Amino acid sequence: MTAYLLALDQGTSSSRSIVFDRIGRIVAMAQRELTQIYPQPGWVEHDPREIWESQLATAREVLAKAAITPKDIHAIGITNQRETTVLWNRKTGEPVHNAIVWQDRRAEPMCAQLREQGLAGTIRDKTGLVIDAYFSGTKLRWLLDNVPGARAAADRGELAFGTVDSWLIWQLTGGKVHVTDVSNASRTMLFNVLTNTWDPELLEALDIPESLMPQVKPSSAHFADVEVASLGRAIPIGGVAGDQQSALFGQACFEAGMAKNTYGTGCFMLMHTGADFQPSENGLLVTSAAQTSVQPQYAMEGSVFVGGAVVQWLRDGLKAIQGSAQVQALAESVPDSGGVMMVPAFTGLGAPYWNADVRGTITGLTRGTTLGHVARAALESIAYQSAALLLAMSRDAVAAGGRPVAELRVDGGASVNDLLMQFQADLLGIPVVRPEVTETTALGAAYLAGLSTGVYSDVSQLSTLWKVERRFLPTWSRAQADEAMARWEHAIRQTIAP
Ligand code: G3P
Repeated sequence: MTAYLLALDQGTSSSRSIVFDRIGRIVAMAQRELTQIYPQPGWVEHDPREIWESQLATAREVLAKAAITPKDIHAIGITNQRETTVLWNRKTGEPVHNAIVWQDRRAEPMCAQLREQGLAGTIRDKTGLVIDAYFSGTKLRWLLDNVPGARAAADRGELAFGTVDSWLIWQLTGGKVHVTDVSNASRTMLFNVLTNTWDPELLEALDIPESLMPQVKPSSAHFADVEVASLGRAIPIGGVAGDQQSALFGQACFEAGMAKNTYGTGCFMLMHTGADFQPSENGLLVTSAAQTSVQPQYAMEGSVFVGGAVVQWLRDGLKAIQGSAQVQALAESVPDSGGVMMVPAFTGLGAPYWNADVRGTITGLTRGTTLGHVARAALESIAYQSAALLLAMSRDAVAAGGRPVAELRVDGGASVNDLLMQFQADLLGIPVVRPEVTETTALGAAYLAGLSTGVYSDVSQLSTLWKVERRFLPTWSRAQADEAMARWEHAIRQTIAP
């Protein structure tokens, strides 16, 4: 059977398309940058038409690169930047406004109101989330309140809301299908992750008409057939998941206690928690994992706001290196950080600390400190922040009667940095495992599509396809690691209360 799978990976900074063969190897890849629009401080937008056009362009390009035609594509999987909010007219297909990107903070006043109304408990218990402008619900409310005519058009049933997956499927089907998956829906603050339905109470609290909302399906399902003439023939869209849940799936983390960390500009750590909805006692989010059936599956999630971005800052801000790849050599020019600790809280601290107002610090400077020490401390800060998340997740898992995380699967740009991965393993005291294919976000979407269309029989088959490229084993004693984490927590305290 011809079984190429096409993954459309619509991310924050670029649109990418990857063709995989049936055993999950990359055949070809195409990528286009996406324009970032910053209308005012704290606001971030994308042009929905550019999202679609750049995605379609990479899909065409990747087929040409792989020297295949649409008829060779068995199914399409879609994965996307989550929470980013698009509102469009059902009749004309025109967006009523730019997409409001997940990083955008404009809805914060509305979140403050929801907190004042005492909705934090209800929202945590129904959605697994904390009230925050990060999620789609209050972004959508902002659009309804601020785009002239939007509220009236919504009340007349003329508008459609979607996260980026819904928007792409709408385009791919010529406006016939308005749908999303549970993992994307779970990032809206409007979706009840226990019942897998839009929640009437939350829709009412945010004053959002239900007619705006897409139909919600499991992540591996028949979503639609692609009817874009330029792609040639009808191809089923068989898988959809938000990018972090897709990466968890692509890392073959299918069972409770299995965790992955994606080292990108920020870091996203997710731990599968199985079929039990288990709110966090340690400031983490609970979210829907990619689901292969209607049976709910959950994950715990925490993110590091400044991960690989700290390397970009070394390059662009400090001009300490010319290219990001040079950071490892500079960090290796010294045996350790010489007592220097960096807390890169450039935009505040996320889980498990949750402090939006703090700013970064570098501590432990001496007359002997060199740029090498600072670079090493910068790199190590990525691992320290990730370790704090994983330790919090393990505490939650143990409190719920489970076991601490036994290994961490890694992917994303900075996971190629061996020094960082070894330091991560030393700090955590568990193996850090890098797979052969680190494009796990796209791979997850391809697997979800392959599962629903018969390329794969079940997830256990996918587990056998997941292959280790390198396993970093811890070399420190537990006492050494505890001491290092205590130094980190001390640096955090100095940052929060100098
Ligand atoms: O929650 C935001 C996340 O989905 C964005 O991921 O990889 O597009 O930056 P990325």
